[in-house]
This record gives sequence, structure tokens and C-alpha cells, in this order.
Amino acid sequence: MQPTLGYSEQVLEHFRNPQNTGELEDPDGTGEVGNPVCGDMMRITLKVDDESEIIQDIKFKTFGCGAAIASSSVLTELVKGKTIREALQITNQDVVDELGGLPSIKVHCSVLAEQAIVAALRDYYDQHPEKEIPPELAKKAQTREETEAQH
Ligand code: FES
Repeated sequence: MQPTLGYSEQVLEHFRNPQNTGELEDPDGTGEVGNPVCGDMMRITLKVDDESEIIQDIKFKTFGCGAAIASSSVLTELVKGKTIREALQITNQDVVDELGGLPSIKVHCSVLAEQAIVAALRDYYDQHPEKEIPPELAKKAQTREETEAQH
């Protein structure tokens, strides 16, 4: 049996076969975040239908650890086809649950994935000043900026 280092089967499966990898052409929103402690980076591009605000497509590129890749893969699966407001209800804890858990020193990898989506959605609203930013997004974006400022 191969060593799993405390990773669930779901983590290993998403690491081996990540979903929604790559980059969308001409995206409606782009988010790029990094963790200054571990040096990992994540970039998310997404397409949004302006009328329904449904996230029609989403792709990620992760320069980082296996848990970060698995977290990005799961999170993109969870938000694809959802409205922005529905997507904002999804947290890194949902990602961890969907992955069947993460070792505690790897939970920050799921946080990075959530932050990347927040950054991409923030970028979408920056490009659409006529639209009102959902309060949930404004709150999450502010928390992200404060966390970044602490490093
Ligand atoms: Fe930093 Fe995984 S170790 S994102």
C-alpha cells in the first residue's frame, strides 16, 4: 500500500485528476492570490452571465502543493453553474468537507482557494461598476485584504 500522509482518497483523486484546470480566454473575472508563508500561488479565471449572474465556466492554475491543487479542483466544481450569491455561501470548510478532510497543517490551502474565487469575483464587479457588490463579497474581500496586509 502506498503512503497517503494523512490525505483522504478524495484529495488524492483530485490531485491526480484535477478538474477545471487551465485558463479561460477573455475571462469576466480574474483572481490571483498567493500565500507568502508557503509561497504557493493560485490563479482563477471565470465567465459570468451578466443577466443571471451564473458562473458559467471557471478554470484554475495552481502553482502549489497537492492540497492546494485538490482544493482548487473541488472549489471550481462546487461553484460552476451556481449564481455568484450562491457561490459566496461556499466556504473553505465546504471544500475541506468535500475532500473528506485535510491534515490541519494543510487547511490554509483550502483558504487560498476560497480567496482566489473571492478575488476573481471582486475583479468581475470592478469591471462592472454599474452593478452593486453583494455585501457578502465586500466582506470576504475585505477580510482577504486585511489578511494580506498582516504578512
Ligand atoms: Fe501552501 Fe498548500 S502548502 S497552499
